[in-house]
Amino acid sequence: MTGVGRDLSVSFRHTIDWSGHSTRPAKADLSRLVLERHYRVLVSRYPVLAVPTGSVGARRKEFDRRIELSTTLAPGAAYRADRTRVAELNQRELERFAARTGRSKALLDRARNVMPAGTPMSWMSGYYMHPQLYVAGGEGARFFDVDGNAYVDMNVADLSATLGYGIPAVEEPMVRQFRNGAHYLLPTEDAVVAAHSLGRLMGLPFWQFTLAASGANTEIMRIARHITGRRKLIVFEGKYHGHIEETLVKFDGERVVPEYQGLSGRRSEDTIILPFNDLDAVAAALESREVALVLTEPALTNCSLVLPDPGYLEGLRRITAETGTMLCIDESHTFSFAYGGLTRLWNLQSDFITLGKGLGSGLAFAAYGMTDTIGDHVEKHLDILHRTPGIGLGGTLYGNALSMACARAVLEHVLTEDAFNRISALGSRMADGIDAISRDLDLPCRAFRIGPRSGLCLTPELPRNYAEARLSMDLDMLDARRVFMANRGYWDCIVSAGPQASFAHAKEDIDGYVDLMHEFMKNIK
Ligand SMILES: Cc1ncc(COP(=O)(O)O)c(C=O)c1O
Repeated sequence: MTGVGRDLSVSFRHTIDWSGHSTRPAKADLSRLVLERHYRVLVSRYPVLAVPTGSVGARRKEFDRRIELSTTLAPGAAYRADRTRVAELNQRELERFAARTGRSKALLDRARNVMPAGTPMSWMSGYYMHPQLYVAGGEGARFFDVDGNAYVDMNVADLSATLGYGIPAVEEPMVRQFRNGAHYLLPTEDAVVAAHSLGRLMGLPFWQFTLAASGANTEIMRIARHITGRRKLIVFEGKYHGHIEETLVKFDGERVVPEYQGLSGRRSEDTIILPFNDLDAVAAALESREVALVLTEPALTNCSLVLPDPGYLEGLRRITAETGTMLCIDESHTFSFAYGGLTRLWNLQSDFITLGKGLGSGLAFAAYGMTDTIGDHVEKHLDILHRTPGIGLGGTLYGNALSMACARAVLEHVLTEDAFNRISALGSRMADGIDAISRDLDLPCRAFRIGPRSGLCLTPELPRNYAEARLSMDLDMLDARRVFMANRGYWDCIVSAGPQASFAHAKEDIDGYVDLMHEFMKNIK
């Protein structure tokens, strides 16, 4: 997931808290907060616009002027709903949201004494621009907040809950394993069975297990560097591959620099960032034979959605092989798009595959596959404690018995071909519904569609790279839509992703989502 707008949201929530101790901020406060937030968003995008000062009335006027300015900066590039209507709707919905979530607010007050921003992990607050929500439980496709509100979850915890909540097929083996011991720092039979299942499903014979896809990608980089004797890495604009210094980088127009604060900046030198769907750029970068690994998703899923051009991924395989560069297909997200991921669907070839997220049904679990040559290499360069130093792989809880039991059950009982066919049909239904909204409201928009994943593309043509894809990430509109939907029992996708049909969703859940999107778009047109 990318961190678009994360810093803004934190300051927004803090401002809300400063507005008073009541669970419901006064109308004037909310109005001020909405204005302030929009100034910040505008200034972050168009630094020429300074933050205005003055009374609320004067600010409002200035705000309107800037909104007009901002919406005319890139005429026709993408559909932009009326900013004032978006802001006004957002304000109304925030008031309603605050009124429905008093217990969450009380928990936030307690939580902020013990956790920065009141959450155990910064994304849980930084992804959302509304006051914090705390969860009491979940079942199937829904979760419930501590105030008793239910939400049909279209974000499915950024694809880590694609199986749904409280999955019966996983419960029994998990409980059994937990009773027997969650981890022994020794393997169990479940690991053998899960690795065989993954080999059959994904076409790569050897597997290792970690706690998160970040850890899997980190190990893949080390192995690729060790095998090739090269240091550099290629990733593509719009990527997210985890919490890794080398991949938390961006191109600033001249060079690759850290994408966030607090990074050393040293690892950026090892990374080359290129536009997706540009084989010539990759070929040119590989010419010097300094690149150990090309790391890519088969379709970019962390900046709305970018599909590969026909032949692009095959071309990537060809030129990486020709230059002795390793290729990793990161299917942490796309594994949930099709049975066997996009690797199987599109018959892709690679040296490594990364998996994670929903595969562990919400447990901390990820995996990576490798060819037999790489598997042999890893075995020959095992780190033998205090005797022979090998490749730096592993972690205390990696491959633990509990997560292996869970993965085995998920692979055997939940992720069946029939189940994937069912959720793909739901995804098509959602995409058809979104296309119908565009037609009905005469919007120059269309649906993203791939298997169970969809979403509203704000350009008439589908994007081919990050620069085009980000036009569909209208932060203001998506913030307002999230609160609008939450107030009506749906948990919308985060800004970088699209809504996705999970294995727990029913037709009616999808139809309800499309209906709400229709109503929302009508409201802001
Ligand atoms: C494609 C991709 N790879 C890797 C990761 C990192 O996963 P994790 O947060 O489990 O480390 C993500 C997370 O969103 C991802 O989208």
